Amino acid sequence: MSLRQIWIVDFGSQYTQLITRKSRELGFSSEIITVKKARELFESGKKPKALVLSGGPQSVFEDKNDYSFVFDNTDLPILGVCYGMQLMGKYFGGVVEKGTIGEYGHAKIHTTNKFQMNNVPDEVNVWMSHSDHISELPKDFTLVMESHNSLVAAIKHNTRPIFGLQFHPEVEHSEHGKDILNYFFEDIAGLEQDWSASEMLDEAKELVRGVEKSKVLCAFSGGVDSLVAAQLSHEVIGDNLYCFFVDHGLLRPQDYGHIETLRRETDLNIEIVTVKDDFLSKLEGVDDPEKKRKIIGNTFIEVFEKKVHEYEENHGIKFDYLLQGTLYPDVIESISPHEEDGQSVTIKSHHNVGGLPERMKLKLLEPLRYLFKDEVRAIGEKLGLKHHWVHRHPFPGPGIGIRVLGEVTDERIRKVQESDQILFEELTESNLYSSTWQALTVLLPVKTVGVKGDARAYEEVICLRMVNSSDGMTATWTDMPHEFLSKVSSRITNEVAGVTRVVYDITSKPPGTIEWE
Ligand code: XMP
Repeated sequence: MSLRQIWIVDFGSQYTQLITRKSRELGFSSEIITVKKARELFESGKKPKALVLSGGPQSVFEDKNDYSFVFDNTDLPILGVCYGMQLMGKYFGGVVEKGTIGEYGHAKIHTTNKFQMNNVPDEVNVWMSHSDHISELPKDFTLVMESHNSLVAAIKHNTRPIFGLQFHPEVEHSEHGKDILNYFFEDIAGLEQDWSASEMLDEAKELVRGVEKSKVLCAFSGGVDSLVAAQLSHEVIGDNLYCFFVDHGLLRPQDYGHIETLRRETDLNIEIVTVKDDFLSKLEGVDDPEKKRKIIGNTFIEVFEKKVHEYEENHGIKFDYLLQGTLYPDVIESISPHEEDGQSVTIKSHHNVGGLPERMKLKLLEPLRYLFKDEVRAIGEKLGLKHHWVHRHPFPGPGIGIRVLGEVTDERIRKVQESDQILFEELTESNLYSSTWQALTVLLPVKTVGVKGDARAYEEVICLRMVNSSDGMTATWTDMPHEFLSKVSSRITNEVAGVTRVVYDITSKPPGTIEWE
């Protein structure tokens, strides 16, 4: 990968990813690197066009590193955010004071010394999260913003392209945060935009170009990531890409419809592998969530192993690569900000076919590994994939297996399938599909009493779960219109045999995960 024009040195802040996202949304390519990597690169003569020093949980008093490799570059535009600004303050001879209580959450700040940034008003509400602060400005710096309780909020070097912010402009709660970042990238650093769907797509395709002559296997779910990864790879390697869609019997009606549409309307070579009995027989009598996940994960691997053998034996086709839709957040999560060994990043093995590469000696092909989900969607559209295909809600690999709480039987799968279909139809019908990030139905392992007709019913309960989120790591329950919930509830109790009651889950994540198992 060619290095991006902005390097974001990660000191471990929970918001570092957001700086990358925001800079890219502004059209500037950026990537996260560790302090160690930054030092190595600088020492080997490489430099970015602009450098961002992120926030971090530690205190500059404990940091014994020498940052002259950064600060000695007199022409290098540098932005310090929170911890990054304190490092800068300390390095240039200011006084950083150890905080006793800290400042967390919203804070009103205003400009000083007639400072002006394009589009940014003189007073803004921003997000603070720090305890240490700069109490005396370093030499040659001007105070350009301060908080209402007179703490240093932003500083600017008088002659060099250096800017420091005590608050977090990358966080959604900071008003004009993007404008403030843009001021640094455009006005201070003089960067030119170099990041758009075309560039992302070119780069992703470049990653595939190296394997043109190889046979590539894709575990294809039809979800956004595998679809975009497959489509862009297909444009590079054509018929050498083989997509396999596993029907494990734990799918929703909408998934069968979707895969048929993709087979009809794309050029992808998608084989449907129907192995329902393999999965359901192994799940018989199992109600422990972790056991279910393991059984489903292992069975996936067995299915692919069989396929790979079958292709080798019957068609003389030997697969070299496994195409996966790994995204940048998975890659970043596995980078330790203070990694000492300088190893390149390792990928978490949380994918559904995670054990496959080792067992089958397959190499990994991950063309989306530098991209965020929104960027994957953007290149999906650039590839000509339909809007609703690239904006599908996430659906977990273990499928309905982890939405049927308790034992997984045909009869209980049917209840989730039918209720999910009703929810899906109503979301689409009322134009609410995109107002929630994910929507699902769960069959609870309880029976409750009800009346149907004039008779007593003693039947199961369906729970509706709808959440909003940006990446699935945290989520809030979606406040859906009451008429909508009422219609879905009434249809489920009327149309799904064996269900007498519908409940709505109003738990956010944390503490509740999105899936129930
Ligand atoms: P949780 O339940 O952990 O889910 O809050 C977060 C997001 O991840 C999806 N999910 C999975 N996706 N394989 C997947 O591909 C899995 O085993 C899996 N478990 C959860 C979940 O649907 C939500 O979008």
